[in-house]
This record gives sequence, C-alpha cells and structure tokens, in this order.
Amino acid sequence: MSVRILALVGSLRAGSHNRQLAEAAVKLAPEGAEVVLYEGLADVPFYNEDIDVEGSVPASAVALREAAGTADALLFFSPEYNGTIPAVLKNAIDWLSRPYGAGALSEKPVAVVGTAFGQFGGVWAQDETRKAVGIAGAKVLEDVKLSIPGSVVRFAETHPADDAEVAAQLTEVIGLIHGQTTAAAA
Ligand SMILES: Cc1cc2nc3c(=O)[nH]c(=O)nc-3n(C[C@H](O)[C@H](O)[C@H](O)COP(=O)(O)O)c2cc1C
Repeated sequence: MSVRILALVGSLRAGSHNRQLAEAAVKLAPEGAEVVLYEGLADVPFYNEDIDVEGSVPASAVALREAAGTADALLFFSPEYNGTIPAVLKNAIDWLSRPYGAGALSEKPVAVVGTAFGQFGGVWAQDETRKAVGIAGAKVLEDVKLSIPGSVVRFAETHPADDAEVAAQLTEVIGLIHGQTTAAAA
C-alpha cells in the first residue's frame, strides 16, 4: 500500500518557489509513496474558537482536517516572512491542532522543508513550524531538514525539479519520511 504524504505550502503566490518545491516532490516520490499537494489553504478563514463548534466549522477547514487526518504523513514547505512562519501556514496548523489532544496532526509524522530568499533559507520559519506542529501533537521528524537559501535567484529560471542538487535532496527527504512512516506502521 502506498504511503500518502500531504504537502502544505506556506505561500499562496502563483509563482511560489515553495510551491515549485512541492511540485518537484510530487514528481520525485518513489514507488510506494505519493505526495499530494493540498490546494485549499487560501480558503481557510482565520482560526476562531467561536466557529470551531459542531455545525459551524467552515467546509474549507473540515476539508483540511480530513486531508490531514487521512494522510500517512505531512510535509510542510515554508518560506520565511519577517523571520517566522507565514500566517497561512500557522493558521492551517491552528485548525489542525484542534480538538485539543485529538487534532488531525496528533501522532502524525511531519517534516518541514522550504526555501527563502535570505542566506539561511528560512530556517527560523521552518524551526518555528516544527515547534508549532510538535505542540499540536505531531511526531516531528526533527532530523529531516532542508532549507534552501537564495530562492529568488536560484529558482529564477530553473524549476527545483530540474535542479539536480535540490532534486536529490528532496528525494532523500521523501525517502526518509517514507521510511519512518512505514517503520512506525510495522
Ligand atoms: C512579507 C515578506 C516577508 C519576508 N521576510 C523574509 C525573511 O524574514 N527571511 C527571508 O529569508 N526572506 C523573507 N522574505 C522573502 C521570501 O523569502 C521570498 O519572497 C520567497 O521567495 C517567498 O517564498 P515563495 O517563493 O514560496 O513565495 C519575505 C517576503 C515577504 C513577502
């Protein structure tokens, strides 16, 4: 049975290099694993406990919870905004963290990678993302890391899937998630 890895991207812009990284991961998934790019994050409203009650949860948040809940693992792709997680990704984590103790991230293997323009590739945002998903109950794959600096220049004319070094790094990331997910299930 194939391991299903749900990819959440923390940038909504059409030309997002993090989105391109996720597209590359979709292409590079080895046999026995599939990476599915989640498309609905822009539609999820800001988390609000008043609407997170039975009968009032927005359909977009229900869909996100279902997609995460049925995935075997999640792979977050985060740029860095002002030294931390972009709001769209943090908002998704907040929705996935509830109900408290039983959210869709509970015990779910999660890895975080990404690219940003700065010289550290968004490592602060990716570290903060690991922290937040860990608090939300995920099993954070702390050793699976990839922060690619200089996004705007590096991927100006080359899609990450066509960048041999990045493709190899992403393949390794997916392989590690696959390995740890199947080991946990055995
Ligand atoms: C609001 C905003 C804040 C940003 N802050 C940072 C930052 O703190 N560190 C950094 O490396 N890049 C920062 N950048 C540049 C992003 O890394 C760059 O735009 C990146 O390509 C965004 O990812 P994307 O291509 O997936 O949209 C910022 C960009 C925006 C729009």
